Amino acid sequence: MLSEKYQERINKIFAKYPDKRSAVMPLLYVAQEEYGYITPESIDEVATLCELDPTQVSSVAGFYTMYRETPKGKYWLQVCTDFPCALRGAEEYHHQLLDHLGIKEGETTADGMFTVEHVMCLAACDRAPMLQCNFHFHENLDMEKTKKLLDQWRSEANGK
Ligand code: FES
Repeated sequence: MLSEKYQERINKIFAKYPDKRSAVMPLLYVAQEEYGYITPESIDEVATLCELDPTQVSSVAGFYTMYRETPKGKYWLQVCTDFPCALRGAEEYHHQLLDHLGIKEGETTADGMFTVEHVMCLAACDRAPMLQCNFHFHENLDMEKTKKLLDQWRSEANGK
């Protein structure tokens, strides 16, 4: 239970807001850290903590792309393929990345390392192709740069 494991952290979060419902987003981050994604049970837990209906919490989690609604790989790669980025080659880049990793859109590599998803505008339109990896931006990418990043992330994951 989040409320038991993270009691102190949750109390600190609540202390920042005028009412409990305003803490829904930071508490969803706590849930995501704990479970790896926003599980149905964590929706209920956050709803109870914030004194909200679970459907209200679910709608917040579903609206924002930074919340994971399904299990993802260790590195969650979100490629913007929205129109301005597409004009700078983002769609082709997205396909190249999927081909390189041997997966389809939305899938995770067999080793559980990488999930690739295309998303709408991430506000880096003039620096496409770009991707967000676990909330960090990487911009002006091509496959050469991306292969180096993938190697770096694999090394980090393996403690090298
Ligand atoms: S359209 Fe891709 S970041 Fe804005």
